Amino acid sequence: MNFRSCHCGALRAKDIGQRATLAGWVGSRRDHGGVIFVDLRDREGMTQVVFRPEEQAAVAELAHGLRDEDVIQVSGTVAKRLEGTENTKLSTGEVELVADELKILNKADVLPFPLDEQIANEDLRLTHRYLDLRRPGMAQNLRLRHRVTKTLRDVLDGDGFWEIETPVLSKSTPEGARDFLVPSRLNPGTFYALPQAPQQYKQLLMAAGVEKYFQIARCFRDEDLRADRQPEFTQVDIETSFATAEDIFALIEKAFVSVFREAWGVEIKTPFPRMTHREAMDRFGSDKPDTRWAQDIVEVGDIFSGTEFKVFRGALDGGGVVRALNAKGLAKITTGQIEELTEMAKQYGAKGLAFIKCENGEWKSPIVKFFTDAEKATLQERLGIEEGDLILFGADQRETVCEVLGRVRLRAAELLGIEHDPQRLDFLWVVDFPLLAWSEEERKWNAVHHPFTRPKSEDIALLDAEKFGEVRAEAYDIVLNGVEIGGGSIRIHEADLQSKMFGVLGVDADKQALMFGHLLKAFRFGTPPHGGIALGLDRLVMMLAHADSIRDVIAFPKNNRGVELMTGSPSAVDFKQLRELYIATTKKA
Ligand code: AMO
Ligand code: AMP
Repeated sequence: MNFRSCHCGALRAKDIGQRATLAGWVGSRRDHGGVIFVDLRDREGMTQVVFRPEEQAAVAELAHGLRDEDVIQVSGTVAKRLEGTENTKLSTGEVELVADELKILNKADVLPFPLDEQIANEDLRLTHRYLDLRRPGMAQNLRLRHRVTKTLRDVLDGDGFWEIETPVLSKSTPEGARDFLVPSRLNPGTFYALPQAPQQYKQLLMAAGVEKYFQIARCFRDEDLRADRQPEFTQVDIETSFATAEDIFALIEKAFVSVFREAWGVEIKTPFPRMTHREAMDRFGSDKPDTRWAQDIVEVGDIFSGTEFKVFRGALDGGGVVRALNAKGLAKITTGQIEELTEMAKQYGAKGLAFIKCENGEWKSPIVKFFTDAEKATLQERLGIEEGDLILFGADQRETVCEVLGRVRLRAAELLGIEHDPQRLDFLWVVDFPLLAWSEEERKWNAVHHPFTRPKSEDIALLDAEKFGEVRAEAYDIVLNGVEIGGGSIRIHEADLQSKMFGVLGVDADKQALMFGHLLKAFRFGTPPHGGIALGLDRLVMMLAHADSIRDVIAFPKNNRGVELMTGSPSAVDFKQLRELYIATTKKA
C-alpha cells in the first residue's frame, strides 16, 4: 500500500464520501469531550482529522495519546464539516477526515519551541533548523527558492546557455574579500582557495569556445557578516562571448520578467532605468540607490562661495563640496536622534553634521547665524524648504559627503517611518562605475569591480595618461529597491591590456606570471571578446519572499559569527588530522 492516497492540502467538497489515507505531522490535537480533532500537516497543507470514540473506540484511544509533531498515517472517510465549523482560510476547510485507522510512524519529544509562533531567538531556531523549516513560512521560502532557481535555469537553457560546474577546490581569485583556504595533503604546505566567484574559470570557458555559460555557483568569502551577507552564498553566474553590455541587460531583464511572473504573478516593466555611478553617488550618496522615495542630495557649495562659516569655508577651500539634504517633515526629530545621526555621520568619516530645523516659522540651528539673507533665500528656494523640514549638511571631500549624506538619507527615511508598498519594484542598472579607486590605507590603486573588468574604450586614453581616477569601467550592477542583487562587466580579453591593468594594481610581471599566467596565456591563444554578470540568488529570493535576512531563504545558514549552530561547525579537529596536513595551530587552547 502507498503511504498516502493524497497530500494534506488536497481534499475538497467533491471528495466527500470517498476514502482517503493521509500521512504527516500532528500540528495540534484537541479533545472535545472524547471526540479528538487533529490538524494533520504535511508540506502541502493541513487537513482536520476526527477520531470518534463511539464509532472507533480503539483508534480514538490511540489518538488520545498523540502529541505535537508525532508522525502518523490515518485512513478514513472524507466528510462534510458540521455547519458553522468550516474554515475558509484553509484550502481543505470544508471537509474533514473521519478516521478509522491510525498508525503512529514515529513519536516526537516535546519541542524546544512551538512551531506556530514567531520565535525571537534566532540561534535557537538555527540550532534546530530542521524544526524551524517545518514552519509554513520557512517551507514557503524553500519552495520559492526552488521555483526561482528553476525559472532562471529554464530561461538560460532556452537562450542556449550551458550549465557547467567549475572547481570548488580552486585557486584564489581576487574579488576583494578574504579567501577560505583548504590545505592539500598530497602537496604539503600548499593550499586551495574556495572560490569567491568562478570568475577566472568562466572566462577560461569563453577561451574554450563555450560561448554561453551559466552555473548556480556556491561562492565563499571570509568577510564580516550582515543581514544580506553570508560566508557562503549562491550566485547565478553567467558569461557570454561576442556580447555587449546591452545584450547582458536584455538577458537579465528577460530573466526577471519570468522570475516575477512565476513568483508573484506580476508583469514587470522593462527595460529597467539606468543611472551612471556618478549620478547615483551625487543624488543618492550610494552606488545602490533606493529610488522608492524622492529625496535628492543637493549641491549648495555655490550658494556659500563667499561664506564666513568656517566649516563650509574649510571644505570649499580644501577642494571639497558642501551639499544638503532636505528630510521633509523631520523637524520633529529629537535631540537624541540628531546626536545619533551625527555619530553615524562621523563613523562614515564626517567631522560633524550641521542641521537646520524649520519649526514655528523659524530656522533653528547653531549655524544660521553665519548665513546672510541672500544665502538663506537661495537655500530655501533650491531645497524647497517649508515648515516642518529638517535640513542636513555635509561639508568635506566629495566622496565623504556622498557616503555620509547617503547613509543619513536612509536613516532619515527610517526615522520618518516612510512605508513602502510591498509590491513596489524599483529596478535600476547602475552603469559607468569607475575602474579604479585609490586606497589611502594601502597607498595603491585597487579595482572597483575586479581586475578583469574592461575600461570603457573611450577612456583607455585616460588609462594611458595615468589619470587612473577618471577611467570608467564597462561595469554594471543591477539594484532592486536599494539592494545590489547582481553585478558584472565586459572583460578584458587582450593579454597586453590585462597585463597593463595588473601593473596599475601593483602586480609586477613575475607575480602576474605566477598568479595569472594561465589567463594571460589563454588571451594570447584567441580568446573572444566576452562579458557577464552574477546575480546574488539569496538576495533576490530574500526580496521576493519579503524576508529581512538572507538567512531566511537559505536552508542551513551560518549565524553572524559564521557558525552553523545545528552541526556545530566550524569545530576543532584531531591532532592526527592536522599532522597529516602539515598544519600546526598557533591558537592557545
Ligand atoms: P560580485 O562580487 O558583485 O561579482 O557578486 C555578485 C553578486 O553576489 C551577491 N553577493 C553576496 N550575496 C550574499 N552574501 C555575500 N557575501 C555576497 N557577496 C556578493 C551580490 C552581488 O551583486 N565575479 C563577479 C561577477 C561578474 O563580474 O560576472 C562577482 O562575483 O548580490
Ligand atoms: P563646530 O563649529 O565645529 O561646532 O560646527 C558647527 C556645526 O557644524 C556642528 O553642528 C557640527 O556638527 C557641524 N559640522 C562640523 N563639521 C562639519 C562637516 N564637515 N560637515 C557638516 N557639518 C559639520
